[in-house]
Amino acid sequence: MIVIKTSKEIEYMQESGRIVALAHEEIRKAIKPGVTTGELDQIAEAIILANGATASFKGYHGYPASICASVNNQVIHGIPGGIVLKEGDIVSIDIGAFKNGYHGDAARTHPVGKVDEKALELIKVTEESFFEGLKYCRVGYRLSDVSHAIQKYAEERNFSVVRDFVGHGIGRLMHEDPPIPNYGAPGRGPRLEKGMALAIEPMINIGDFKVKVLDDEWTVITKDGSLSAHYENTVIITDEAPIIITCSKSEVT
Ligand code: MF3
Ligand code: CO
Repeated sequence: MIVIKTSKEIEYMQESGRIVALAHEEIRKAIKPGVTTGELDQIAEAIILANGATASFKGYHGYPASICASVNNQVIHGIPGGIVLKEGDIVSIDIGAFKNGYHGDAARTHPVGKVDEKALELIKVTEESFFEGLKYCRVGYRLSDVSHAIQKYAEERNFSVVRDFVGHGIGRLMHEDPPIPNYGAPGRGPRLEKGMALAIEPMINIGDFKVKVLDDEWTVITKDGSLSAHYENTVIITDEAPIIITCSKSEVT
């Protein structure tokens, strides 16, 4: 069942989203060769707590950290720790904040220092594929119109779309209905309605779409070892344009 949010609930979600965006901004500034993913986790957690929120991910099904930090061929759910970022890496940071009973959730992939052209293109296309999907985040479209737009955009540029993990509704729970695949035929699934809150999160690979989970039972990597990028925002469906609640003003493209 998809929970429709009231305007008061959306206000609460906007506050959680603002904190997620703030944490992402600070992390972006901190990413450089030599920093560890554990240090990035500390930075994000401090901001989340200082703003009266808690980290949505910490303790979620036993997840041990506040953020996910997934390096290079790691797709999602990388556990922050001793990994030292080095020039040429790319790192996907996923952050969730919970305040007043509501979650916000967003992810970004960043280059570390100077990275090669193909990696930069992957990051850019992943972000752009989200905004392609966003065009369909309006009353009158159906959910799979969003999914289809993302897939089409990424595949036309010769990247592949991860199938095994998907976006999700969000609100009182971090994961609510509906599941939001980043692939599929258009014109299917629920009709979008005012008050839906959706975490849309394309995960895009340079090589094949197949992934596997490491022995730590969290880290998801590409099976072929190719680079992967992730871009996610929490989006509110309205009568008019959708509202992205997890983008800071300086970031809006
Ligand atoms: N943004 C991710 C998601 O939507 C975050 C989950 S990480 C977890 O699933 F550790 F909390 F599982
Ligand atoms: Co999410």
